[in-house]
Amino acid sequence: MKIKYKDLLEKKKNNRKAVLVTAYDYSMAKVLEKCRVDAVLVGDSASMVMLGNNSTLEISLDEMIVFSKGVRKGLKTPYLIVDMPFMSYQPSRRDAIKNCGRVMKETRCDAVKMEGGRELIDRIKAVIDSGIPVCGHIGMKPQSFKKYGGYPIMGYNEEEALSIIRDGIALEKAGAEMIIIESTVDLVTKYLKENLSIPVYSIGSGRESDGQIVVVNDIIGFYSDFVPRFINVYENISGRIENAVNRFSADVEKGRFPQDKKIPKMSKEEFKKIIKNL
Ligand code: KIV
Repeated sequence: MKIKYKDLLEKKKNNRKAVLVTAYDYSMAKVLEKCRVDAVLVGDSASMVMLGNNSTLEISLDEMIVFSKGVRKGLKTPYLIVDMPFMSYQPSRRDAIKNCGRVMKETRCDAVKMEGGRELIDRIKAVIDSGIPVCGHIGMKPQSFKKYGGYPIMGYNEEEALSIIRDGIALEKAGAEMIIIESTVDLVTKYLKENLSIPVYSIGSGRESDGQIVVVNDIIGFYSDFVPRFINVYENISGRIENAVNRFSADVEKGRFPQDKKIPKMSKEEFKKIIKNL
């Protein structure tokens, strides 16, 4: 049965961890459909893992929509969240409502994700007030990596810790459905989990959260440019693909592919009759 927002809230209330992963295409969504996953995010990490860019900044709204449409077709059960790409909502409330509305309409997702805390609260609230469910994203915000000069862990000092906590409180007050907290010290995550009524999901911010979210390619060994420090790699999909393609290669080179029983055949006599008319 389709997982709804109330189910995610229920999990939090019952102290049960939610599992969230990313997906970017139809085939992966169909596999995830068979897994114990509560929500799927079409992350702007697609910019890196699907398009080979150096950061999340380069991906466009149109590209995000293409990936999300594929995921939507393959995903029936988990809650579906689509990431809003860089500069699709930051410029103004009007842009935010228009672009988040477009994503909701064209991808049929359950919620959009917007990176930002108090500095963007007017745009986030405008989107929520227009009827669009929003997942917030605070702590280390990858779309701001140029401002940070990299991807730091945040919240070690008083100013940062308080700022992230205030961002979380502001998002809940604005009506966000849930929050993703990235690369932040665990006590900040714990504080927000215990003091907010909406779910707080961690990525690289410790275990004291209402659940964990990861980039699926990281845990299956399918993106090697950069593996985050907190990741466990559970499979070596790249290696398995390499192995399968090399076995195919060997079969082609040795004349073993395709197999006899899979070749469309005709008798030589019949073919002779056809070729006479050439
Ligand atoms: O883009 C992304 O993949 C994310 C993470 C939180 C998983 O934002």
